[in-house]
Amino acid sequence: MEILVVGTGAREHALVRALSRDPQVTALHAAPGNPGIGQLATLHPVDPLDGAAVAALAVNLGVDLVIVGPEAPLVAGVADAVHDAGIAVFGPSGAAAQLEGSKAFAKDVMAAAGVPTAEPRVATTSDEAAAALDTFGPPYVVKDDGLAAGKGVVVTTDRAEALAHAQACLAKPGSRVVIEEYLDGPEVSLFVLSDGAHVVPLVPAQDYKRALDGDAGPNTGGMGAYSPLPWAPADLVDDVVARVAQPTIDEMARRGTPFAGVLYVGLALTSKGTRVVEFNARFGDPETQVVLARLATPLAGVLHAAATGGLGQIAPLEWLDDAAVTVVIAAHGYPADPRGGDPITGIEDADALPGVHVLHAGTALAQGPAGDQLVAAGGRVLSVVGVGADQTAARAAAYSGVERITLPGSHHRTDVALLAD
Ligand code: AMP
Ligand code: GLY
Repeated sequence: MEILVVGTGAREHALVRALSRDPQVTALHAAPGNPGIGQLATLHPVDPLDGAAVAALAVNLGVDLVIVGPEAPLVAGVADAVHDAGIAVFGPSGAAAQLEGSKAFAKDVMAAAGVPTAEPRVATTSDEAAAALDTFGPPYVVKDDGLAAGKGVVVTTDRAEALAHAQACLAKPGSRVVIEEYLDGPEVSLFVLSDGAHVVPLVPAQDYKRALDGDAGPNTGGMGAYSPLPWAPADLVDDVVARVAQPTIDEMARRGTPFAGVLYVGLALTSKGTRVVEFNARFGDPETQVVLARLATPLAGVLHAAATGGLGQIAPLEWLDDAAVTVVIAAHGYPADPRGGDPITGIEDADALPGVHVLHAGTALAQGPAGDQLVAAGGRVLSVVGVGADQTAARAAAYSGVERITLPGSHHRTDVALLAD
């Protein structure tokens, strides 16, 4: 099978790495990819948001499957363009990706499907937003309706800050803001593959969304993750499939916009039961880095089945007993104002450690006096993955990898997968 992966992050590097270990895969391409992905796949400098260009590349390469990683191309309809060109594509249509593209749409689908979630109010004016804040009381949860790269949500006990965020969201023409009930309890990310009708869950992971240790600092795209979750209820996955994933997939099919791809179910295990915090229409980053590190079943056939209506026929997925932990190394100033251009060293040393592999996200090759130098070129720069017999061993491996890497001004969390969590 020849495959084209669309995207530039550590999530896409994890996908390409898993695919590169699948004996069924005969060629790997990425658009545009990154220098780490370039060690495993042929890179093509195509804009991931340009559906016509991605489809033309897929046709020219003659690939059997296109995998679209990030949300922005999905919401922009890149999967539709590839599908219309007659090539199997893993990733939902633009219409189905509205489950991530609009929080108000997702809430509407959840209500219709009977999915447990925080009760929302959708506001289009500052007065409506203020009234909604007072309906729920603190802590306030205020969400930009549209895509915001993990930065559109403010959770605060400060009413003025909550209202200011709502007003900032509403300042964009035609925008809406979602204000909702606060959910307490630990968060879990569960990815569920679907071909539009069948669902196949992967294993749960936990993400560290805040920038700093102890869940302090601003929200980010995700600073680390681990899997499995030894503390999660044994029936969590079955329960979420039955009460969340299958009803959502059924509702999307009923609406004539079947969802094929991966439904990322963000959950809060609250004192009142499991609730959906959010849906995303793609694999999560950095959770994918730990989930795929544990997948024993070759990946390509599974994703191809999801893309072509065949998930009902695949064998049950097999998982390693090992634990996996990933720690994100972020650039100076991330998330507010990441600095590019700082040199990165030590990746080979980290990769050489047992149970450690390093995935690239915001990296680039810059020409220096001594040849090409790897430099930071994005907020989240690297995702260091450790695999071990248990969480403690996996965590130790991941952090031993982090210690080998030098990136001036960088920061990372030191409390990822600490057992006290
Ligand atoms: P979202 O973009 O919807 O995933 O929200 C980003 C983060 O904000 C989530 O991972 C939670 O940590 C937090 N969050 C979102 N909604 C709620 C809620 N209703 N109650 C508490 N925290 C929330
Ligand atoms: N890790 C959070 C996300 O991918 O949205």
